[in-house]
Amino acid sequence: MSAIGGMQTAGGGPAAAAAAAGAAHGAPGGPPPAPAATAATTAMAASEALSARFGLAGRKALVTGGSRGIGRAIAEALCAAGARVYIVARRGPETGEAVEEMRARGFDVQGSAADLSDREECAALMEKVKAAFDGELHILVANAGVNAQAPTLSYGEGDYRRIVGLNQESTYVLCQLAHPLLAAGARGAGAGAGSSDSGAGGGGSSGSARSACIVFISSVAGGPLAGRSGSLYAMSKAAINQLAKSLACEWARDGIRVNSVAPWVTLTEMGKQNLTNPALLEGLLARTPMGRLAEPEDVAGVAAFLCSPAAAYVTGQTLAVDGGYSVAGYW
Ligand SMILES: NC(=O)c1ccc[n+]([C@@H]2O[C@H](COP(=O)([O-])OP(=O)(O)OC[C@H]3O[C@@H](n4cnc5c(N)ncnc54)[C@H](OP(=O)(O)O)[C@@H]3O)[C@@H](O)[C@H]2O)c1
Repeated sequence: MSAIGGMQTAGGGPAAAAAAAGAAHGAPGGPPPAPAATAATTAMAASEALSARFGLAGRKALVTGGSRGIGRAIAEALCAAGARVYIVARRGPETGEAVEEMRARGFDVQGSAADLSDREECAALMEKVKAAFDGELHILVANAGVNAQAPTLSYGEGDYRRIVGLNQESTYVLCQLAHPLLAAGARGAGAGAGSSDSGAGGGGSSGSARSACIVFISSVAGGPLAGRSGSLYAMSKAAINQLAKSLACEWARDGIRVNSVAPWVTLTEMGKQNLTNPALLEGLLARTPMGRLAEPEDVAGVAAFLCSPAAAYVTGQTLAVDGGYSVAGYW
């Protein structure tokens, strides 16, 4: 059992749980175990089975925009569940600091700087990830994104390139570039496959609990509700929600699941831009049944779940993390 996080197990799972439960009933012919010891052993076996179901021991993950905000919270959640994580963001010093802070907490993290709105930098990043993870990847979290909330007639060509270029185009390009590594991860075919935890299923079939996966960090701005500004951001997020559906169908047979997470306003550097106006904040809270905005950890927990064996049969979905915003009617 790793010392990192509370969710990691070493080779637990249903078989281990059954074996432990069997042992708890005592060896044939031996003295029956004390009832308290039996209950404790059974509870421990059940807990280990649950950890294996939600844990990510041995998984190799790339998180874009992992230096701060939602990406940072996702990187930490994946690490706490037992994954090895590679983060990327444009600013080298901030990325390096994030890596050091997470390592100080005992997490297995590495990272580098790249501007993902540049195709060549995306390709160079994927070569680094390939080398770092012995040719295989199990999880891609495409989280890096930008927004500029403005009316459509005020957007220029530069805004289009910046917002659609990162949120939509780079997400698409990263999926293309990551596919060989993800397919290798789903097959357990990387050079490091023998040393990774492939014990709870293995293989790349579309039904495997150990399939590879992609998670997009989209937004409720991607629909079905729309607003009176921010059309570039909204259409870029709607596009990746549809991309999740397309790739879910196309790559299921490669053992790759693809889902989207759609947060409502989240308290990060980006989200806080919305909160400088008290009247706007009041309006946002009034539209949110749960009466609060999202914390990065609210989004990270859902992303980590979608990466886990517990979500093995979930693909092509967009899951809102919005305190009820997207389902609230007038009354
Ligand atoms: N916060 C919200 O209210 C909210 C709501 C719904 C959806 N989202 C989505 O959640 C995701 C994360 O948002 P956030 O709030 O955590 O944003 P954030 O605090 O601004 O963090 C963005 C991260 O992405 C990196 N990044 C930005 N541009 C990049 C580029 N060209 N290449 C590589 N990395 C880049 C940033 O680092 P560098 O600056 O160093 O590059 C940083 O690590 C985005 O896709 C956003 O659209 C956010």
